[in-house]
Amino acid sequence: MSDECFEILVVDDNPNNLKLVRKLLSERNYKVRISTSGEMALKSVESSIPDLILLDITMPGMSGFETCQALKSKAETKDIPVIFLSALKEENDIIKGFEVGGVDFVTKPFRSEILLARIKTHTTLSHLQKTLSSKNETLEKNYQELQSAQEHLIRSQKMSALGKMVKGISHELNTPIGVSITGVSALESSTKQIMNSLNKGDLTQSELLNFLSETNNLNTTVLGSLRKAVDLVNFFKQVSIEEHHDASSKFNLYRNFDDSFSGFKKAFEERNIVVKNEIPCNLDITSFPGIFYQIYNNLLNNVYLHAFERKREGTVLLGAEKQQDSVLIRFEDNGQGMDDDVQEQLYDAFFTTKRGQGGTGLGMNIVYTLVTEKLAGSIDLESKVGNGSRFTISIPQDTLAEA
Ligand SMILES: Nc1ncnc2c1ncn2[C@@H]1O[C@H](COP(=O)(O)OP(=O)(O)O)[C@@H](O)[C@H]1O
Ligand SMILES: [Mg+2]
Repeated sequence: MSDECFEILVVDDNPNNLKLVRKLLSERNYKVRISTSGEMALKSVESSIPDLILLDITMPGMSGFETCQALKSKAETKDIPVIFLSALKEENDIIKGFEVGGVDFVTKPFRSEILLARIKTHTTLSHLQKTLSSKNETLEKNYQELQSAQEHLIRSQKMSALGKMVKGISHELNTPIGVSITGVSALESSTKQIMNSLNKGDLTQSELLNFLSETNNLNTTVLGSLRKAVDLVNFFKQVSIEEHHDASSKFNLYRNFDDSFSGFKKAFEERNIVVKNEIPCNLDITSFPGIFYQIYNNLLNNVYLHAFERKREGTVLLGAEKQQDSVLIRFEDNGQGMDDDVQEQLYDAFFTTKRGQGGTGLGMNIVYTLVTEKLAGSIDLESKVGNGSRFTISIPQDTLAEA
């Protein structure tokens, strides 16, 4: 801002002083307003706020000090810089000037260069302050907008995750429940038929035998479907971290894996999948053994279902090492690997490439939640199509110690 834009209010009861100052300032292109008393000055600032006030102290009526105090007590006028321009020279007067809120003190008679320099300093300072505070306001506003946009984003992401979850659960439960309903409806109509025949007295033995065998088959189908539904519900429950009430204890990592694997042993042998447990035999840790069990279970399940889907044989390698403040566990297979697209969605709930063929898409989501939330660790995957997959799970020692 150049000097000519600034408006200065000069307050003095002496017309000669006013004239002199007005001339000096006008020559420098300041806009000048004048008031001949403190009371008038207060009135004048009510209509419009000047950029700076030059204020005499000794005046009839309100003194300069009182005028300054009045200005500083009002929110609208408190930020106007006030320079006292006075014949008073005593140190006490100067101190009082600052105490009542003045920014500077120039004694009369003054040298014009000094007065102009002081005016320039204070108008520039006050202008900078105004610019800064308006920038601050803009920043604050932008920040608030950003925050509300972020909240909105999180909300909509949560909703979309929830939507996917609900869609996945409905999809999975639809089949077993549908099969059960069909089965029970068939049972209902054949029961009605048999009761009719019974009532009419023409029920034959073969009809009854047929009915009983059909009922038996339907029972088996319905029961199987309902069991599947229950299994699914139990599986879904694992997604919620609170469902794991596993107690922590000291256990041997090598044996923990062997136990987890025992249930898969037969199925893996049939497919020529060799599992090598290379975890050091003496590696004991204190943590939640059930969680590790669950993690291995899901990883092994995937090896069986996905990694060697098209291969007649394969190898799974299990390794672990204690590091300075963590334990690293490696789980790798030399199966078919995963492309970038699968890797990107691997941990998403309900992401599966085997929809309708035994995949629920929850296995890796559960692994991820268990590792990152329950064990406060991290999981990394290196995988290439045709070259197998390697998971590296890192668990910090402090959560192990706490556990
Ligand atoms: N070891 C693996 N080798 C190849 N693909 C895998 C492996 N593990 C997981 N996947 C892929 O990741 C997907 C998601 O796995 P997961 O969350 O366990 O769901 P699901 O096993 O029910 O399909 C699988 O459908 C499969 O495509
Ligand atoms: Mg799985």
